[in-house]
Amino acid sequence: MGVSTGTVPRQAAPDVVERLLVGVSGSVGVINIASYLVVLRSLPAREIRVVTTEAAERIVPASTIALYCDEVVSGGPDGPRSAAHVELAQWASLFVVLPASANTIGMAANGLAPNLLTATIMAAPPGVVFFPNMNQSMWSNPALKRNLAALQKDGHVVVRPPIRKALEVGTGEMVDAPVLPTPEEICVALRSLVAARTAEADGERAGGAAAR
Ligand SMILES: Cc1cc2nc3c(=O)[nH]c(=O)nc-3n(C[C@H](O)[C@H](O)[C@H](O)COP(=O)(O)O)c2cc1C
Repeated sequence: MGVSTGTVPRQAAPDVVERLLVGVSGSVGVINIASYLVVLRSLPAREIRVVTTEAAERIVPASTIALYCDEVVSGGPDGPRSAAHVELAQWASLFVVLPASANTIGMAANGLAPNLLTATIMAAPPGVVFFPNMNQSMWSNPALKRNLAALQKDGHVVVRPPIRKALEVGTGEMVDAPVLPTPEEICVALRSLVAARTAEADGERAGGAAAR
């Protein structure tokens, strides 16, 4: 696993995340979303909202996800008809896409916004944190690599999946495959990122004050 911001310290002191927005797309890792949301609370995150895609909800219903967060804003057919994407993007103090499907990554990298999650990414400032989740053949696809590079170029953060033994759904065999980091690993990476961003903001404030 590697966070794309090279300067991020690994074990910085945790800062409270006031408003955590989790974009949940239709990757197989969504079956474990409850475990991730439980541990993300210990970031610590004061309030957690989830925005889903229709594909994610076909695997895990919004009513199940709602048990583990403060609010689910559904990207399914029963979701909001208002400009929820703008409100959600402005609300978030930290926005992560977990799991991030190849489709959502491709849409976001190309400025496409056909659903609530991708529209929210488009409305958000740079710095959205993507956790890609797909099998080895999708992971090694050159189009996906181009899309991930484009997201990073646009100022977003891509956390590369670690390679571990995992069940290949098609064959039923255990193979070396890219997998989502564990919930605990994700918390460590996000704490480091938040601490680095806080230090950067403090530095900018101090620099601004010194210049006055
Ligand atoms: C059971 C199941 C598992 C899937 N797993 C993945 C996956 O791990 N990664 C991925 O990129 N797509 C996966 N897909 C395909 C996506 O769900 C599909 O591309 C969908 O259009 C993604 O939509 P979204 O990005 O709006 O959530 C899976 C589909 C199904 C039905």
